[in-house]
Amino acid sequence: MIDVEAFKRMSYGLYVVCSGNQEHGNGYISNSVFQVTAKPAQIAACCHKDNYTSQIIEKTGSYSISILHNEAETSVIDKFGYSSGADTDKLKGMNVEYGGTGVPVLLNEAIAWIECKVVKTIDVGTHLMFIGEVLQTEVIDESKSAMTYKEFKEKKQRMAPENAPTYIEDSPSEESNGSSGRYQCQQCGFIYDNEKEDTPFEELPDDWQCPVCGAPKSKFTSI
Ligand SMILES: Cc1cc2nc3c(=O)[nH]c(=O)nc-3n(C[C@H](O)[C@H](O)[C@H](O)COP(=O)(O)O)c2cc1C
Repeated sequence: MIDVEAFKRMSYGLYVVCSGNQEHGNGYISNSVFQVTAKPAQIAACCHKDNYTSQIIEKTGSYSISILHNEAETSVIDKFGYSSGADTDKLKGMNVEYGGTGVPVLLNEAIAWIECKVVKTIDVGTHLMFIGEVLQTEVIDESKSAMTYKEFKEKKQRMAPENAPTYIEDSPSEESNGSSGRYQCQQCGFIYDNEKEDTPFEELPDDWQCPVCGAPKSKFTSI
């Protein structure tokens, strides 16, 4: 038997993985970044094949990892985690530095960053696992600690979308039969609270979409 509750007890961090160059760069939110060896220092990043960033990493052979702090702005996570660089320039207007390979590094909301050169790509089905040798690292803020995926879910009331390896196809909150006036998107976790909005959820048009991830109204359940 596989009880998905066991997966929810695993611990993960929260990162922005970027790739590309000065002319064209992009990044996505990842909670599946981890160190695979110490000597040489190697870090793995697991990227969905449909993520736009995945194509860029394959093409350029390098990526950067920005480690987010535990009070990181929701807007930054929403931009990098729920929209695609295929549709929008996510790095436009952001605080970006470039590593030795020319890879963009996102500095917003980061406490440290790591630049990697891809040494191996493993096809794991839905995702590509990029194993990168560490070329350069920098700590940029000593005063804050890193955000965990658990903190992210609790503080931001969001959840990892379908492209994340940790995606769990169930409701993050208990569904209620009564009308609490609060509805949650089952794709990203965004909560629509009638008390905070001008239009009650029930009166929103059928083609209304989640403001965070673009999911249809039908993806919302009363909580
Ligand atoms: C909390 C969180 C964790 C995520 N973790 C991963 C991950 O580890 N791997 C992945 O491929 N996508 C992950 N995603 C989804 C991507 O960030 C998302 O699909 C993004 O829109 C892809 O952007 P891109 O198409 O510009 O590359 C995560 C999203 C969130 C919000």
